[in-house]
Amino acid sequence: MKNITIILIPALVVLYIFFYENSNSWSSEKTAHYQLSQFISPETCGGCHEQIYEQWQGSMHKLAYDDVIYNSVANAGLVGLTDKDEIEEAEHCQTCHTPVGYITGYPLKTSDDKTKIAEIAKQGVQCDYCHSITGAYSVYNAKFKYAPGNGEDDPGVKRGPFKDSESDYHQSEFSDFHTKSELCGTCHDVQHVTFKTWLETTYQEWKNSTYSKQGVQCQDCHMYQRPGYPSTGSTDRPKNPGTAAEGSVEREHIFTHYFVGANMAIPIKEQNTALAQMAEERLKNAVDIKIEPKAEMDKSGKGSKIIIKIINNGAGHQIPTGLTNIRQVWLNVTVTDSKGAVIYKSGVPDAKGYLPENTIIYSTIFGDGKGNPVDNLAKAREIISDKRLEPMKEHVENIDIGNFDGSVTVKASLLYSGLSQKVADSMKELKGMNIPVVVMKEVKAVVTK
Ligand code: HEC
Ligand code: HEC
Ligand code: HEC
Ligand code: HEC
Ligand code: HEC
Repeated sequence: MKNITIILIPALVVLYIFFYENSNSWSSEKTAHYQLSQFISPETCGGCHEQIYEQWQGSMHKLAYDDVIYNSVANAGLVGLTDKDEIEEAEHCQTCHTPVGYITGYPLKTSDDKTKIAEIAKQGVQCDYCHSITGAYSVYNAKFKYAPGNGEDDPGVKRGPFKDSESDYHQSEFSDFHTKSELCGTCHDVQHVTFKTWLETTYQEWKNSTYSKQGVQCQDCHMYQRPGYPSTGSTDRPKNPGTAAEGSVEREHIFTHYFVGANMAIPIKEQNTALAQMAEERLKNAVDIKIEPKAEMDKSGKGSKIIIKIINNGAGHQIPTGLTNIRQVWLNVTVTDSKGAVIYKSGVPDAKGYLPENTIIYSTIFGDGKGNPVDNLAKAREIISDKRLEPMKEHVENIDIGNFDGSVTVKASLLYSGLSQKVADSMKELKGMNIPVVVMKEVKAVVTK
């Protein structure tokens, strides 16, 4: 009898731990595990990490919950759904846009009452959330592992890039995970929860690029940028020496927390001109365009094609990336003959800001599973088309301009807008909103036959 208990008790302990660990990993993807009181407000962190706090304060991470574009798209996505799989996806947005709320139990659904959300959860992707992460179960849909502390009085361990970091307030620990793209990719790859359609694939795009092979992480571009230093693939990415906290040791590089992408509409709305300008600097250092000096004539001699080569030499992923069914990147081409008359144009927006039919657009179109395009992410059963600019690959467009005499002047530009004006105008909260258009690159060349 005694022998059996000696074996049985450890066996039960092992079994318990095994099932507890597994249930933990499974259910942490589904339900709340943490108390709101475990998380510390960004203002508290800002008490010592003043510069980092100020940078983050204006960022799209801070605004992920408040963002009017996000909220309009999320609210519109809930309207008129009857299919339970579609509803499940539409009710899943807060996972990344209100992450502290989601992992502490409210809101668990997109449609949950906004007035009941705690203040701290409204601060979007925040300090204590990111610095309590210890790893990920899978690199998509925010499937993170966390080890937060117990609130302000017992802040626990904050994980980051330093191996020798000391603070009187919290424990510090080096975390390899924080230095790698996987931390970012766990939110920046988004899969439809029921149909498994990939809605955002920034991490996979990076993983398949030369940057990942060279070990250039998301952080190496996005956490080096500061005013005047766009820090893209086509510019230098100089280090940012300084201190991480008031009065702490000098470091060779302090990772910036502006998290600049391409969003200008929201920073402009928030009157954050510095962030909008950094987004513009980033976009203006992302691509190169070449126009071949000779047109390609067809055999009959009646037609000719202008050859335009675009290279994404600045982004560590496709252009555009992220939510590419709403982003709009397009080519504007104008051809004038030797007398100055325009003989061809495409990609010139009309008075309303809408693009004509023949525009060459780089984007993703989702479908309902029967080949019909859908705007609502919840209905995305398939990807109908995905035409974008891969990192460090040349993309060639052949543009048919008919016959011409002598030579022509070709002007080609690549433009970016975070949201098509048509989509903006279709939503009541966004109607009339200023959606800036950035000229990423513009080139001009004389082309002969
Ligand atoms: C009382 C001041 C103080 C407060 C409040 C504070 N920190 Fe720190 N923290 C420091 C100091 C000092 C360091 C050391 C800096 C260094 O090593 O260069 C530090 C280091 C860090 C590091 C680097 C850890 C590593 O090993 O790489 C992270 C991450 C961090 N803090 C996050 C936070 C977060 C998140 C909060 C809010 C929950 C916070 N801190 C609040 C003072 C503070
Ligand atoms: C999206 C996740 C994320 C958020 C939000 C975030 N950080 Fe960080 N932070 C990081 C990463 C990642 C690094 C290290 C980058 C690396 O090593 O490549 C870092 C580095 C740090 C460091 C080390 C010094 C440095 O900047 O290199 C401190 C201190 C820090 N963060 C504090 C904060 C504070 C305070 C806030 C909120 C105001 C905050 N972080 C918000 C991800 C985040
Ligand atoms: C908890 C999930 C989460 C993590 C972790 C995360 N992000 Fe984000 N990130 C978001 C969300 C959500 C947005 C969009 C907010 C919005 O536009 O409303 C965003 C926005 C951004 C933007 C701005 C995009 C634009 O269009 O301007 C950049 C750049 C960015 N993240 C980079 C990073 C990097 C680099 C890391 C890793 C160090 C990271 N993110 C980690 C969720 C996350
Ligand atoms: C070699 C530098 C570089 C690396 C590495 C890089 N990016 Fe970017 N990123 C850029 C540039 C340049 C842009 C602006 C052009 C664009 O919008 O794609 C950008 C834009 C973005 C945007 C806004 C997208 C849009 O089109 O609206 C997000 C989000 C983003 N990056 C996230 C990430 C994440 C996450 C990673 C890592 C998986 C990453 N980036 C790696 C350079 C980089
Ligand atoms: C797994 C994490 C995740 C989930 C879940 C998620 N998002 Fe996002 N969302 C992001 C990231 C990361 C970005 C930034 C990428 C970019 O800038 O294109 C983003 C950006 C956006 C933007 C662009 C905001 C702007 O200012 O341009 C909209 C709109 C949006 N999401 C809507 C939604 C909706 C609607 C849902 C639910 C159906 C949802 N998201 C669910 C991670 C997520």
